Amino acid sequence: MVEITRAFITGGAGFIGSRLAVSLKKAGVDVSCYDNFLPQVHLGNTDTRRILKDAGVEVIVGDVRDADALSLAVSRTKPQIVYHLAAETGTGQSHDFPVRYTDVNVLGTAHLVEVIRKAGPDVRRVVLAGSRSVYGEGACVDQAGQLTPAVERLPKDLARGDYAPKDKDGATLLPVKTNAECVVRPASIYASTKLMQERVLRQGFWGSDVDVGVLRLQNVYGPGQSMNNPYTGVLSIFCRQIMEGKTLNIFEDGQITRDFVLVDDVVAAFVAMGCAASMPSDVVDIGLGQGITILDAARALLVALGQDPGRIAITGNFRPGDIRHAIADNTRAANTLGWSPKVQIHQGLQSLADWSRAYNRVMA
Ligand code: UD1
Repeated sequence: MVEITRAFITGGAGFIGSRLAVSLKKAGVDVSCYDNFLPQVHLGNTDTRRILKDAGVEVIVGDVRDADALSLAVSRTKPQIVYHLAAETGTGQSHDFPVRYTDVNVLGTAHLVEVIRKAGPDVRRVVLAGSRSVYGEGACVDQAGQLTPAVERLPKDLARGDYAPKDKDGATLLPVKTNAECVVRPASIYASTKLMQERVLRQGFWGSDVDVGVLRLQNVYGPGQSMNNPYTGVLSIFCRQIMEGKTLNIFEDGQITRDFVLVDDVVAAFVAMGCAASMPSDVVDIGLGQGITILDAARALLVALGQDPGRIAITGNFRPGDIRHAIADNTRAANTLGWSPKVQIHQGLQSLADWSRAYNRVMA
């Protein structure tokens, strides 16, 4: 374990960043959070700022695209480690706002590289919140069980209800757990920007004494995820819709699979990465290691909130850039960080449901 005394978190008021900040602070680290408090995410929520302040975390309001403000913040706070979590995160939304997504995620990361070079002489580690979305459809096998690359799904296939991942000749493939051995093949603008973040950081600090670590996160969920952001994670969207008495719209045929990993487990992975005696230079995949269909997750949330599990519409709609299945192979995280997830999906869904019920009561 290395001892860190000063940490800087971009996106430090976000869902993951704010919990990471409090966790590091409790471990005795001086933490500064740099966040632009994007209204789409933070509107109607004053809790995060209070929680961070109560914990003794410094909150700096600023945007990663504002190089001068970022530079001032880094030079003043003198961090040894920078956690880079500031990002636009919506797969579907990135299709509508390619400039905004590229600007924040890619250019923001490039600014961070230049700022650390010029104004962060103490920085020795940068840890990126990467995304499993960079794999696109991820690892798949053919009918003979051979690993075979999946190509991007085609709108014409999706429109006629053929949702399965396919190889380049159109043969249907079966998904398997994905790890960093898999070729990257981002399927959305969001995913492309997340891959660029990895590359800009690695290439930007190449040959320097700053180590770069990347955690490729699966779908992070849990209490505290924005209930007001219409582009937030699907489970929070479903909780809000359940509270509002709405029917849950499930895209495609409901059999899309995601690996949902609880935010507390993800925070533990970031802490383990930052404190590792030697930070893994290879990408580390972080997920539960198990998939659940969106249909089953929706039903479980309805039941957890005491509602009719049939209040569901399977729409056949599909989003540009969506991928079909995602399940992480966590082996490297276990081997290099001694990390494994602690909270199983139904326990986590129950805690999300309980929190959203309480949140709704307070906001009502
Ligand atoms: C999510 C994260 C992204 C992360 C990635 C890693 C969010 C907003 N995005 O993307 O930051 O890098 O995981 O895998 O958390 N769906 C419905 N009905 C809805 C909304 C969504 O069926 O009303 C479906 C979508 O089609 C999708 C699935 O739910 O297949 C998950 O969608 P979403 O929560 O937006 O996450 P990802 O796109 O997987």
